[in-house]
Amino acid sequence: MSVQSHLRFPVKKGNILGSKSENSPLKSVGVKRALFGEAQSPASPKKARIVDENVPVSPSKEQSSPKQVSSLLRAKQAFHTSLPTRLIGRSAEISEIKSYVGERINNKTSGSLYISGAPGTGKTCSLMHVLESFDGKFSFAFVNCMSVSSPVTIYKTIAKELKLPSKVINSKSIADTLKKHVSASKTPIVLVLDEIEQLDCKGQQVLYNLFEWPHIPQSMFILITISNAMDLTDRILPRLHTFKYQPKLMNFSPYTKDQIVSILEDRLSEVQANGVPVIKPIAIQLCARKIAADSGDIRKALNVCMRAIQIVEKKLSKDVTLKTTSDDRCNPGSPMKRVASTQCVDVQEISAVLHKIYGSRLQTSSFAANSETVTMPLHSMILLCTLVLMKKHCKSQDMTVGKAYHTYKRICQKRDITSVNEGDFHRLCCDVECRGFLLLKPAKVARMAKIILKIDETEAERVMQDKAMLPSILADLSVLDK
Ligand SMILES: Nc1ncnc2c1ncn2[C@@H]1O[C@H](COP(=O)(O)OP(=O)(O)O)[C@@H](O)[C@H]1O
Ligand SMILES: [Mg+2]
Repeated sequence: MSVQSHLRFPVKKGNILGSKSENSPLKSVGVKRALFGEAQSPASPKKARIVDENVPVSPSKEQSSPKQVSSLLRAKQAFHTSLPTRLIGRSAEISEIKSYVGERINNKTSGSLYISGAPGTGKTCSLMHVLESFDGKFSFAFVNCMSVSSPVTIYKTIAKELKLPSKVINSKSIADTLKKHVSASKTPIVLVLDEIEQLDCKGQQVLYNLFEWPHIPQSMFILITISNAMDLTDRILPRLHTFKYQPKLMNFSPYTKDQIVSILEDRLSEVQANGVPVIKPIAIQLCARKIAADSGDIRKALNVCMRAIQIVEKKLSKDVTLKTTSDDRCNPGSPMKRVASTQCVDVQEISAVLHKIYGSRLQTSSFAANSETVTMPLHSMILLCTLVLMKKHCKSQDMTVGKAYHTYKRICQKRDITSVNEGDFHRLCCDVECRGFLLLKPAKVARMAKIILKIDETEAERVMQDKAMLPSILADLSVLDK
């Protein structure tokens, strides 16, 4: 499969998405199906738009009257966390990957590269950006280990990605068949295994096998593994060293405040063409400073901005309702326009979101997720307890938003607490994600999004202000699906 076919980019429209680039621009914009777990229909210029699980846009409205899309709505879209129109910064990392991969493709040799770094540091999008520039020169397979149900299905996914015949895909000895294919291939093969820390220990043998393939004599196999853990190869693959299969290691550092500012400003430049600011520069600075101090995760910064815009939107719609009622006689046509031109995201909205997400941690300069108790709303605490309970007693693939919601509802029922609805539950998950306690893997349908709990029982107990809640929830297994 080609990289381009993975990069199904909605096409840019007008000046909403400009083409200037710090690095060379990605030729197109959009969502990578394999990366983001959803099969968008192939992009056509008319249907194209940036898709973001965080932005509740109504496609039909947007397609039928694109001119009516407010600058706030466009700004929300610009703060998507899908593959970006262009990458800002990361030029050192990009050129390192480029020269490693380029050398191997051009010399028809093999290699193994291991990219580590905390979430939201641009690992996946930087790599895809580089591979796109070599598109057509190799066969490509991409596997997000998060989405493979069992380690052996990795082979099947690779075979499918490489578009091998169905007899290979369904072969009982698929590992051997694939290895033969790799040994005999006259075209370089690039295999990207993203989020390999998601493979449990059963995946080790599969990984060992795959790490061996670049060492098959005359192999033109380039293995690129990505993980959020820096020491993964030492920790879960200690034998790599014995076999001399160690990959070349590369690390992505968390984004600094200035880097975050640049990325946010670049996204804003896509929508602020008319000079009306959507987010005040001082508010951008605040957001970047806080996120850099916390995690350097650009996804979180984008999310904070997006939610701050939602606050302004809400205020505006209230204002408009009031103004429409009072202004109807003298100026029925344009209350929205007038209010919109005077309103934008300021420090107070960014602070409100940051405070909601980080609670009291915002007040302290030490911001680490493993720190002290944080102020969390009741339902966020129940959600966290639900996930700890499920993680303890259910299979990892059961941790979806939908399944967690069922368990959460039963827990609430047992405690006579009114549960939130499913939509609000999803938003609750996003809040708790921004606090760094879980990771949401977007899916086509929100309820299918997989949840990865990033903290264990002890940490969860430590961060919750209600110390009795977790033990009592953990003691009642009747809320779990049989
Ligand atoms: N340098 C960058 N320039 C523009 N957008 C970026 C950059 N780095 C990350 N992003 C945005 O953040 C999202 C998450 O980045 P990603 O590469 O998936 O992080 P990681 O793989 O390290 O978790 C990207 O899809 C993109 O929208
Ligand atoms: Mg990634």
